[in-house]
Amino acid sequence: MKYESAAFEASFGTANQLPVSDLPEIAFSGRSNVGKSTLLNKLLNRKSLARVSSVPGKTITINFFKLNECRFVDLPGYGYAKVSAKEKSRWAELMEAYFSTNRNIRLVIQLIDVRHNPTKDDLQMLEFLRFNSIPFAVALTKADKLNKTQRTRQEEALRNELRQFGEFEIIVFSSVTGEGVSALKAEIEKSVENR
Ligand code: GTP
Ligand code: MG
Repeated sequence: MKYESAAFEASFGTANQLPVSDLPEIAFSGRSNVGKSTLLNKLLNRKSLARVSSVPGKTITINFFKLNECRFVDLPGYGYAKVSAKEKSRWAELMEAYFSTNRNIRLVIQLIDVRHNPTKDDLQMLEFLRFNSIPFAVALTKADKLNKTQRTRQEEALRNELRQFGEFEIIVFSSVTGEGVSALKAEIEKSVENR
């Protein structure tokens, strides 16, 4: 797959004009600040194609990146405490519009910070994906922030907890060391090429 072909396509803050789903889509989901934009940039080998925010939850938008073979979709982050009720309902509307309009979604990469237990929202998201038979994989982000002992312990605990959602790939990732990049790419390519 030609990752270097990626270009920013469009950003949507409202649900009514999402681009036509004429290519396979790989979507990235997770709470605000978990590292979605950073992971996207790492996969695409760009410094800041997807913007990385130091102020989490600031912009609730769906961002589309077009590659030759597929689209990457940076979904709006959730779970940021300071977001108003109005913004929360805008988030729900956007997600609903994205997932309910019969798009060619091949894989959702659900990001979870390897240092923490999944939040209630993470579990809800995974349950939604499982219930709707949307293929997904989990990326455990920020692995460089744990030492070896902590990391082994956390990885095992998370694998156990996530087992309730069925069989899927769990890939430990770090944007700092590059760990997990090739495994994620393999998973993405498999999903885009299948069918
Ligand atoms: P929203 O767009 O607000 O939903 O956040 P996001 O999920 O896109 O997170 P973002 O990529 O903006 O990353 C948030 C912060 O975490 C940034 O300061 C990143 O530099 C940092 N970060 C992301 N991934 C990693 C990682 O693997 N290791 C380390 N050490 N820091 C990371
Ligand atoms: Mg982001």
